Amino acid sequence: MREAPIGVFDSGVGGLSVLAEIQRLLPNESLLYVADCGNVPYGEKTPEFIRQRCSVMAEFFQQQGAKALVLACNTATVAGVADLRRDYPQWPIVGMEPAVKPAAAATRSGVVGVLATTGTLQSAKFAALLDRFATDVRVITQPCPGLVELIENGDLHSPALRELLARYVGPLLAAGCDTIILGCTHYPFLKPLLKQMIPEDISLIDTGAAVARQLQRLLTERELLADGTADAAQFWTSADPEHFRNILPILWNTSGVVRSFNK
Ligand code: DGL
Repeated sequence: MREAPIGVFDSGVGGLSVLAEIQRLLPNESLLYVADCGNVPYGEKTPEFIRQRCSVMAEFFQQQGAKALVLACNTATVAGVADLRRDYPQWPIVGMEPAVKPAAAATRSGVVGVLATTGTLQSAKFAALLDRFATDVRVITQPCPGLVELIENGDLHSPALRELLARYVGPLLAAGCDTIILGCTHYPFLKPLLKQMIPEDISLIDTGAAVARQLQRLLTERELLADGTADAAQFWTSADPEHFRNILPILWNTSGVVRSFNK
């Protein structure tokens, strides 16, 4: 069981930002990644639809003999992680949530910004997160429709992207945020561009590395950490595999086998 793979999924390519952190921390682990690109963006879908997709993914990873599951997607986590934990009690399951706790601890101005999808920001889980960790700070939330679609096309720099991003970041800067949470796994790919657009003393926080550490903790606890050599990561997409193959080198350090996911 130790050498079994870990299943990781997202609505699209965003979860690759998390996959990179997992691979960095746990280089012995074999990783399977499903991008539900045929249904991206999740941010504007109903929670019921996303829950259904989560169970399709989980079933697939079970067939692949996975030993653990990572929801490398904030939007899927708020909608589906509770059901998955109920339905797959045998697995360590790691989800993602916007880094409200570390941001509230780090802010000096007392104003924190959150860039995330509409689905994440409207969820009860996010409201609970604010109630729990953000009572002493002001939180400005900004949904970012359209960003994910551009990133899915491998666009990390175009004038259109820069313009859209400026529209979303502007209100956070105007409100005095000194800490900005990247609450969607697609957004870490925009860090280089974002850094050009914001003053140097504003911090950008995401949770990819924390998720990798949490996965490491759970695997250690259950004596499931791999100690052999990892197989190369394998990829599936529910849209055109050729498109994914073309984008992979932009967002991932190596190429990999990409297959079609027809479920
Ligand atoms: N990458 C996802 C997240 O972390 C969702 C993007 C989307 O499909 O809208 O929220």
